[in-house]
Amino acid sequence: MDTHSKKAVLAYSGGLDTSVTIRWLTEQGYEVHAVGVDVGQREDFDEIVDRGAKAGAASVRVIDAVDRYAAEFLTPAIKANGLYEGKYPMVSGLARPCIVEEVVRVAREVGAGVVAHGCTGKGNDQVRFEVSFGVLAPDLEVLAPIRDANIPREKAVALAAEWGIPIANVVTTYSVDENLWGRTAECGPLEDPWVAPPEDAFERTAPTATRPTEPAEMTVAFERGVPAALDGETLGLAEVIRRLDVLGGAFGFGRVDMIENRRVGIKSRELYEVPGALAIIAAHRALEDLTLERDLAHHKPLLEHRWADLVYDGQWFSPLRAAIDAYVDATQAPVSGEVRLRFEPGSCTVVGRRSGSSLYDLSLATYGSGDAFDQSDAEGYVRLYGLPLKVWSAKQGTGT
Ligand code: ARG
Repeated sequence: MDTHSKKAVLAYSGGLDTSVTIRWLTEQGYEVHAVGVDVGQREDFDEIVDRGAKAGAASVRVIDAVDRYAAEFLTPAIKANGLYEGKYPMVSGLARPCIVEEVVRVAREVGAGVVAHGCTGKGNDQVRFEVSFGVLAPDLEVLAPIRDANIPREKAVALAAEWGIPIANVVTTYSVDENLWGRTAECGPLEDPWVAPPEDAFERTAPTATRPTEPAEMTVAFERGVPAALDGETLGLAEVIRRLDVLGGAFGFGRVDMIENRRVGIKSRELYEVPGALAIIAAHRALEDLTLERDLAHHKPLLEHRWADLVYDGQWFSPLRAAIDAYVDATQAPVSGEVRLRFEPGSCTVVGRRSGSSLYDLSLATYGSGDAFDQSDAEGYVRLYGLPLKVWSAKQGTGT
């Protein structure tokens, strides 16, 4: 092999599997450049860099991609109310293509012939990494040693000990992934779908005992479908998400316990903590209720559903995802205005909404005085509307 192909760039999370992957690749003769991507996970990045170096990486870098992740990935997710199977805001599915872009950038910079990831063969993340690498850098070889050299968890722990990689802080009961959009947990006691999630599986959402008892309200302002301010204070998207995540989390809102259908064919039990994401999607939907014309409001969710499947399935870099995003963008022009969210223990409820492009017309909706709705229009309209059924029922003899 030439030196070019002996350079590998690894998508490095700092966890057990990717740390072991660094050393495994160096054992195979690779010069390993580890790339940690900051997508808003609450991590000690100094510790990650230290661990990567101790594992034998030629370089370890942490790239701050938080604002880019918010702008390029979470913005479309909000506009598309992105929820896989109607429940999961796709914390991992949205972050992987962002991470892949950074890894490919570094691969070009150092002239690597190989990119690598630390996923197992059972999950969706391997699909997302490899499909995305295949689009952005089809010339690069992809290595997945945890999967392909078959390094199960116990073996990874043993290898880390043998190789002197400090992992005391990263070997946990649960397999966790985390970023600005939320936190995921699986494995351990969660593998039995009958077992209630132990409280130690949660980190971002408060247990019942410590939730505030008095409700709190927050007003979210949107501009063309994107959150732009909280309680009148203009903020960048990442900050809006962070603040709503902290507030919702304090109330214990945003826990999702679901059985999910993975791309690789297995059902799994997953636990999500996504207070900010769910609060924002609830608010965004409420504003769409007010501002989208009826047929559009009924049609958009059909494509939202498809969009979520594509993102979950690792098809971020697909022409269909891009085309649906163009459609979704075209729907968002009127989605500006404000939504009042009320947080109570375990819940977040929309309690008010207003917009300059509201289609809600009080003079049409009111049952009080000032009614502009001509009720005499209704009679003939309803008669024609019901005509097909009337004709049908006469033939059936279903009348009494
Ligand atoms: N099941 C979720 C998904 O596929 C979460 C995956 C979390 N990833 C992980 N490596 N722990 O999006």
